[in-house]
Amino acid sequence: MANSIDLFNKIVYFLITGASRGIGKTMAIETSKNFAPGSVVVLLARSQSGLEDTRSKIMESNAGIKVIIKSIDLTKPSVEEYDEIIADSFDKSVKYDQAMIIHNVGTLGDVAKWSTDIENYKELENYFSINVFAPTILNNRLLKRFPIDLKKFVVNVTSKAGLTPFKSFTFYCMGKAAREMYFRCLAEEFPNLLILNYSPGPVESEMTVYAQNSSASSEVSGMFKNLRDQGTILTTEMTTRKFLDVVKAGKYVNGGHVDYYDDL
Ligand SMILES: NC(=O)c1ccc[n+]([C@@H]2O[C@H](COP(=O)([O-])OP(=O)(O)OC[C@H]3O[C@@H](n4cnc5c(N)ncnc54)[C@H](OP(=O)(O)O)[C@@H]3O)[C@@H](O)[C@H]2O)c1
Repeated sequence: MANSIDLFNKIVYFLITGASRGIGKTMAIETSKNFAPGSVVVLLARSQSGLEDTRSKIMESNAGIKVIIKSIDLTKPSVEEYDEIIADSFDKSVKYDQAMIIHNVGTLGDVAKWSTDIENYKELENYFSINVFAPTILNNRLLKRFPIDLKKFVVNVTSKAGLTPFKSFTFYCMGKAAREMYFRCLAEEFPNLLILNYSPGPVESEMTVYAQNSSASSEVSGMFKNLRDQGTILTTEMTTRKFLDVVKAGKYVNGGHVDYYDDL
């Protein structure tokens, strides 16, 4: 299929956000296993210890690659800070086969609030800063740095909540919808980029524990409780395996939305 990517044994420049825990951590570890020596992996999140742990797990399974970690708070997008990270990690003299970016960072927002409780401008600004503005600006700075002829694969970790409303998830639904639309516009304007919006399904992580414990909606907390009680909540390993299968199969429209539960 036209959008299939074989990452195996390729020299890749790979940057992933939210790599200190949860889905991002497993995606970083499992994706990096494929890369050839000479590849560079850049891990971003706030927790230094979480990032160090991800780095050591990557090095255990693939010692030939360079792993750079940077503790950064993505609530305050900064072109200068992003440019510094990119300049320190992307060596233009290296002949990379592929650049791959995964915008995984994400927060739920205050799920104790109903839609009508959202009226604090600063809270909205913070929410959109980390979830929409930071991925947009970071992505554009990376694309500007990469050589024109380098193959570029951009992944946005999205959610069913970007397409379907969920009670008490108003921040999250607004943010995921807006973020996904940036990536869709990008794919429309630049068809030479390969762009995938991957929706990982309901996954065991700090995010879903918070959703279950704090949602204003008993329907929504009950949904997560049921998934846990029935053992049907996904693991980060399960969703990462599916993600890598989707990447390899390439059976999606450029800029499209692929869900964990979609057939390959
Ligand atoms: N879990 C699910 O069921 C599910 C379903 C659909 C979509 N998703 C999406 O999958 C992605 C990962 O979710 P997850 O469940 O793995 O969440 P998670 O366990 O809460 O992990 C979130 C990651 O984002 C980082 N992060 C949070 N705030 C940050 C900040 N201000 N600056 C920099 N990094 C920050 C965290 O690291 P630090 O705290 O160290 O900064 C962590 O690495 C998100 O985009 C989420 O929306 C998840």
